[in-house]
Amino acid sequence: MFIFYHEKSRTFHLQNNQISYIMCVLPGGEAAQLYFGKRIHDREDFSYLLEGAVRSHMAYPQESGSGLSLEHIKLEYPSFGTGDFRRGAVEILQKNGSRESSFRFKDYRIMPGKPALTGLPSVYTEEADEAQTLVMTMEDPVSSVLMELYYTIFADEGIIAKSAKIISDSDEEIYLTRAMSLCQDLPDSNYEWMQFSGSWGRERFPVVRPLAVGTTEIESLRGHSSHQENPFVILKRPHTTEASGEAIGFSLIYSGNFSISAQVDPYRVTRILAGINPEWFSWKLDKGESFQTPEAVMVYTEHGLNDLSRIYHNLFRSRLVRGYWRDKERPILINNWEATYFDFNEEKLLKIASRAKECGVELFVLDDGWFGARRSDNAGLGDWVAAKELLPDGIEGLSSKIEALGMKFGLWIEPEMVNPDSDLYRAHPDWALCVPGRTPALGRNQLVLDFSRPEVVDHIHHMIAAILKNSRISYIKWDMNRSITDCLSAALPPERQGEVYHRYILGVYNLYERLIREFPHVLFESCAGGGGRFDPGMLYYAPQTWTSDNTDAAERVKIQYGTSYCYPVVSMGSHVSAVPNHQVGRITPLKTRAETAFFGTFGYELDLNRLSAEEQNEIKEYTSFMKKYRRLIQFGTFYRLQSPFEHNESAWMVVSDDRKQALVGFYRTLGCANVHFSRIVLQGLEPDFCYSVIAGEAVYREKTVKKIESFYGDELMNLGLIVSDGTSGKTGEGIMPPSDFFSSLFLLNACAECPELEN
Ligand code: GLA
Repeated sequence: MFIFYHEKSRTFHLQNNQISYIMCVLPGGEAAQLYFGKRIHDREDFSYLLEGAVRSHMAYPQESGSGLSLEHIKLEYPSFGTGDFRRGAVEILQKNGSRESSFRFKDYRIMPGKPALTGLPSVYTEEADEAQTLVMTMEDPVSSVLMELYYTIFADEGIIAKSAKIISDSDEEIYLTRAMSLCQDLPDSNYEWMQFSGSWGRERFPVVRPLAVGTTEIESLRGHSSHQENPFVILKRPHTTEASGEAIGFSLIYSGNFSISAQVDPYRVTRILAGINPEWFSWKLDKGESFQTPEAVMVYTEHGLNDLSRIYHNLFRSRLVRGYWRDKERPILINNWEATYFDFNEEKLLKIASRAKECGVELFVLDDGWFGARRSDNAGLGDWVAAKELLPDGIEGLSSKIEALGMKFGLWIEPEMVNPDSDLYRAHPDWALCVPGRTPALGRNQLVLDFSRPEVVDHIHHMIAAILKNSRISYIKWDMNRSITDCLSAALPPERQGEVYHRYILGVYNLYERLIREFPHVLFESCAGGGGRFDPGMLYYAPQTWTSDNTDAAERVKIQYGTSYCYPVVSMGSHVSAVPNHQVGRITPLKTRAETAFFGTFGYELDLNRLSAEEQNEIKEYTSFMKKYRRLIQFGTFYRLQSPFEHNESAWMVVSDDRKQALVGFYRTLGCANVHFSRIVLQGLEPDFCYSVIAGEAVYREKTVKKIESFYGDELMNLGLIVSDGTSGKTGEGIMPPSDFFSSLFLLNACAECPELEN
């Protein structure tokens, strides 16, 4: 049992071995937050935590007695207007023009496991004893609105999932103008706020700043979670490092417009709000109708940022991602986009595929340009029928030919979009989002289909399902290449236009859900001009995401490092591409490109025929290395060791569950002369195990290595792993040339003769 209710004090305590989450019902019926953090003892009454001091200028609800001003109490899912002057979690516009509401406790229920959210992605349980859920029902008698607040505590880790359902019992229509997923009041503000920001080609770079009085916020108003901000924030104590210290993560399982904010009041109380962005949002509710918010997942740890990431990685990898591919090693693929762009025909594709097959690649992916009049990005989007002039036997024929080569076949689609120059648009101009009388903005020459309309989703479903049914398709790359503008639906009345952004995302989720149910063995990879929709919402449907269009190795180390704070390695699409790199023009060694891409799903984004015979042999080595170690890499525990945002030399590692094997990736951006004697302190090993260390190119030819050095886990985690050539303690001579864009792997195996292993 994880959830206790103390009847007398009306106190709830959600508790496991790691954390406690405590709240109570105030005398006036409002729900107050008392504590969230490391596990503490249970007791009957925690009301000593309620601040009752009388201050001038405060307002207080008459029912609560003069001491309890809502402004000075930490609250669950508060509303604005009755004395709490901070931002609220819910706002309801009523017929009389009032936006005020005041919710009072009605009843509660506790259930095993965790209920799913209708139409929305969420984390789940497989067995009832993995978690327990509290549902607290609140009521605002004046507006006749009910609210169900959901709290799930997981059995073994510091995880709380929250969401809210707002139900109208009012005879009059009401409008939700704010319905956040999570409100978390914390008793102090001694935190650093960590967000993951960027733009196309440089997604999810950490940005850290101390909290201060006032509001700190990230948001998206682009219709997708965006390249610019990610729906994930960490609050960490100033002294917290990767390996130690308190941190709390806030992750929103949503792919549309969002906001996450921290409001610090003058009493140093911090209020975190996360949910659908209230800007441009409103939702009409008639009597009996309800609105379910997306889910937010909070994680608490006292063991540093790597531990926070470990908890999110495990949760998302095993209880957010679903289906056939969840626990499977991901196929090594080759994608033709950077190899051909729009300039291909079947013959060219088969040549690329054949060479890739020789190099051990398992899946061939045909990217953009295979359908309708899509010979450039000017036309054809929306017409999901193969172009016969390129593919005489259609996708059916090509996919069979690829399978005949001994590879699986995958296909690119961008189902949410339409080019004005397309048969679809000519037939249904009103299916694109657009404001009557205004010329809609174009993005990459395309408009956004109105996925808030079921008939639009149905039509696209029909087209895509037909291709999947008739061809041999094992993988789909689902792209989304522009942000939403002109967000008006021709199918909705004026008072419902505030619903379009959210209905759009519900339409996307609906299409995904239908396709993954009908084609459960197809592996979906989501994409939005690279990582413009790398969010947990997408992971519920597509187990992997194309991390970024930027495939340069040096840039990718940063992008993957930043992405790893929340998202597991196995979810990050990562490919080796050609040099000079197409995004930044940089030339990096093939080895560095491979050793960066290994820490993801791994694949290729170039024509291997254009490489020299020597390079092709290298490719074979990389492919077979990945096959050998992908279980370790994709399902082991990942640790960030040294940040590329702070150092010229950076490193990360993965460790197997039994801690007998580990792989360290070390990356140097620029070479320097006469370098220092450097070492990297490792994490996650077994202190008493003795590990053999193979470094550099030898990892690809393990059997030929004559003398292997070995070190105890505690040496490697305290003294560190030597990553320089020369002097004693070396891990190999001549493996660390001082060149630019250099990388090296270090493979650690617990030695068979290790005394600890024998016991
Ligand atoms: C987006 C994707 C790329 C590629 C192109 C095709 O930019 O991120 O990987 O699929 O679209 O147009």
